[in-house]
Amino acid sequence: MLRSLIAGIGMYVPEKVITNQQLTQYMDTSDEWIQERTGIKERRYADRTKETTTTMGVEASKIAIERAGITPNDIDFIIFATLSPDYYFPGCGVLLQRAMQMKEIGALDVRNQCSGFIYALSIADQFIKTGMYKNILVVGSEKHSFGLDMSTRGRHVSVIFGDGAGAVVLQPTEVDNRGILSTHLHSDGADAEALAMYNPGTHANHWKEGLADFDESVIADMFVSKEMVSKEQFYPFMDGQAVFKKAVVKFPEVIMEALNKNNSAPADLKLLVPHQANLRISQFVQKKLRLRDDQVYNNIQRYGNTTAASIPIALCEAWQEGKVEKGDLVCLAAFGSGFTWASALLKW
Ligand SMILES: CC(C)(COP(=O)(O)OP(=O)(O)OC[C@H]1O[C@@H](n2cnc3c(N)ncnc32)[C@H](O)[C@@H]1OP(=O)(O)O)[C@@H](O)C(=O)NCCC(=O)NCCS
Repeated sequence: MLRSLIAGIGMYVPEKVITNQQLTQYMDTSDEWIQERTGIKERRYADRTKETTTTMGVEASKIAIERAGITPNDIDFIIFATLSPDYYFPGCGVLLQRAMQMKEIGALDVRNQCSGFIYALSIADQFIKTGMYKNILVVGSEKHSFGLDMSTRGRHVSVIFGDGAGAVVLQPTEVDNRGILSTHLHSDGADAEALAMYNPGTHANHWKEGLADFDESVIADMFVSKEMVSKEQFYPFMDGQAVFKKAVVKFPEVIMEALNKNNSAPADLKLLVPHQANLRISQFVQKKLRLRDDQVYNNIQRYGNTTAASIPIALCEAWQEGKVEKGDLVCLAAFGSGFTWASALLKW
């Protein structure tokens, strides 16, 4: 049976480290508050002009491609997951294709926020299993630092997020019992506004009143209006407690869905790599599934929440540290804005 195997994995984080203490220059917060509620000690911020979501994705991809033992010319499809694209359109996939001088292959952007990488992996998995592509590059990258509210007003959101990128190359394998065993994707748009960046957008307050201010009499003023800008209505919004409450239910649920599908139990897992949303969420999930410390990988302490990049960054570090070896059962799981949630179970 044809399965998709992670043939190469890479990550890239910007050099600039921003500690919790440094954030106190901009907002009323403290190292103690941030560590206690989120587990985060520091995060990375991209160089403001020299690095973009795409360039970080390129750096991670170069490593993944090299480790897969191929060249950019061998890649036959790109899937790029991000919520912080260089341009509103076109997507980062084509910018990466250009930057890496790849062939005129297909490039798809995925906009599923924190679940983006697993959604992208699942799409790639389907293309591999049908035999359509043989070397798919799956990238997750974020430059959150481009647009966080660094004032005290935005502190509960801004302290959480960081920049970085991760990438994998997926290839087909016929080796028994290796590769992606199954993926599981879910969504519930009931709370779409609970974790969102509303503007710029075409919504014109259709779904919810008061998200954007604009002059209705001015044609074409709704996407980015002067009122929106003057009232600073362009920062991400997060109802932290709503996110927390739903995440601690959906993470264990979607992990168990993957394990049950493959007649496995939490005890069989070598490693769970959860999306690095908040250390408290990961700890809750670990406890609920009765996993040992060595069965769960967390690095949010050093990078914050890097959304679509967090799983490939964490998986890459875990692999580099020898925590994932050939044949190990690994579960990837994510929850985030949408809400969307997802899991993937694989044999490394
Ligand atoms: C964001 C989160 C850490 C906030 O923790 P919380 O316990 O819900 O905190 P609240 O928002 O209720 O705020 C509690 C107090 O801390 C204050 N506070 C918020 N952010 C702060 C910060 N960065 N520094 C210091 N104080 C802060 C609030 O103003 C509030 O003060 P008050 O009691 O005087 O009004 C928490 O809700 C969370 O982790 N949610 C999940 C977020 C997440 O995972 N997002 C990513 C999803 S992929």
